[in-house]
Amino acid sequence: MGALVLMAPQGPAAAAAGRQEAVTFSKHIAPLLQRSCQKCHRPGSIAPMSLLTWEDARPYARAMKFKTSLGPKPGVMPPWFIEKNVGIQEFKNDPSLSDEEIALIAAWADGGAPEGNPADLPPPITWSDGTAWEIGEPDLVVKSPTFSIAPSAPDWFGDIGSVPTGINEDRYIAAYQIREINNSRDQPQVVETAAKNTAGSFVMHHATVTTIAPNGTPMLAGCCNVHEVGRNAEFFDPDAGKLIEAGSRLAFSNSHIHANGRETTGYLEVGFKFHPRGYKPAAQSRNLFIGTSPELIDIPGMASNVRHEALYTLRENMKLTVFEPHMHAPGVRMCVEAIYGEEVQTLNCAGYEHSWVLAYTYAADAQPLLPRGTILRTIGYMDNSPKNPNVADPRNWTGAGHRSIDMMNIALWQGIALTDEQFHEALEERRQKLAVKEGGRVVGCPLCGPGQKLPALAGAEQPRPSGGQ
Ligand code: HEC
Repeated sequence: MGALVLMAPQGPAAAAAGRQEAVTFSKHIAPLLQRSCQKCHRPGSIAPMSLLTWEDARPYARAMKFKTSLGPKPGVMPPWFIEKNVGIQEFKNDPSLSDEEIALIAAWADGGAPEGNPADLPPPITWSDGTAWEIGEPDLVVKSPTFSIAPSAPDWFGDIGSVPTGINEDRYIAAYQIREINNSRDQPQVVETAAKNTAGSFVMHHATVTTIAPNGTPMLAGCCNVHEVGRNAEFFDPDAGKLIEAGSRLAFSNSHIHANGRETTGYLEVGFKFHPRGYKPAAQSRNLFIGTSPELIDIPGMASNVRHEALYTLRENMKLTVFEPHMHAPGVRMCVEAIYGEEVQTLNCAGYEHSWVLAYTYAADAQPLLPRGTILRTIGYMDNSPKNPNVADPRNWTGAGHRSIDMMNIALWQGIALTDEQFHEALEERRQKLAVKEGGRVVGCPLCGPGQKLPALAGAEQPRPSGGQ
């Protein structure tokens, strides 16, 4: 209590938040930090400083104002790059702040970062330890082979090998999370590298993690898509858990390791959450990788606005569950569109930051529901100029390739294939839930509007575009 409480906030941000009372840490800021920041900003987690208490947060008030106000661009806190003015907005575990919350942080910083009345504080969250899993306590953790890299070694690309999962019964995966554990924090920085802002100084930029069945068959996309630096946990659609067979192995391939200025040794650990024994999936999961052909990627040196596209026609009805832009260092933004008949819908646009690669899991009622025949378009934007700090030397021409300094432009989708019956059911359910009015349209569901024709049932003619009539 005391004088701090009486300090009225000044400035446009406070006015924007429309408040008369002082914005205080205890009452307004602490709840935001608990929801969107403390997962990383607490002792032992990946961020450089704690934001648990007023004493911790106060010195960073201005930096917090700056970092939360960057929009869906590299550097924004919390890391989350979905553009909010276009496309689908409902995602699972979305940590991003609303405009009002961003204005609150600004008003708090502008008002001198007052503590307020400690009695207003929300109960503190009990974090289990510095390395809590987003998926909850895993049922199984598998460690990759060890890897290491010298402080200024060039990019390394290759396979780091496979390990047994150790499970002796078939199980279905509900969610998984991959984390890099390394000794980097204990080492002094000896060389400045291009990877200055790689989150928490990890070195494994990405690795494809797949299962190998007991008979030796590699199961591409068998469990885990890809690990990417900073990537969040992934939850599969509850109807489409993925099988991991008894006696299978996990392989870590296409691994791309980037020096971080320190002598670093580490490994990946993959945490699995399983469905209960006896679970059977009701639907078929699919991985769709829609990207520009490598031969076509052509990015001149010093070019700041290069755009590449890719198109793909769905051959099955599809419910999309996860959107993940996959680019490399020059990538700065990706938009994805669904085209059905005359209707062109922007499903999402997201900023891209090569040091914080994120996957976006749609909330259940917002998963795109697309009839077969829909064209999915990937549009990637690249900045190969000095404005992009992830590019090592912008004077170089860049084409496609596996290394970070090369480029890829792929939307990695996950979804589930629906039979016509399942698709009709899903459409009907969605229409009822959203109560779409006459003439209304739903982004991500071109057939959700009332009166729009459903695609013909299997065996009949192909679905007709809904535009026009
Ligand atoms: C997913 C993990 C994560 C979340 C969530 C997160 N941060 Fe961060 N934050 C980091 C990491 C890692 C860094 C350092 C590397 C960087 O800047 O990219 C950082 C850096 C920062 C910095 C810069 C520190 C400096 O020294 O200048 C500020 C300020 C910050 N975060 C504020 C926030 C706020 C406020 C929130 C919530 C609204 C938040 N962060 C959420 C991981 C996170």
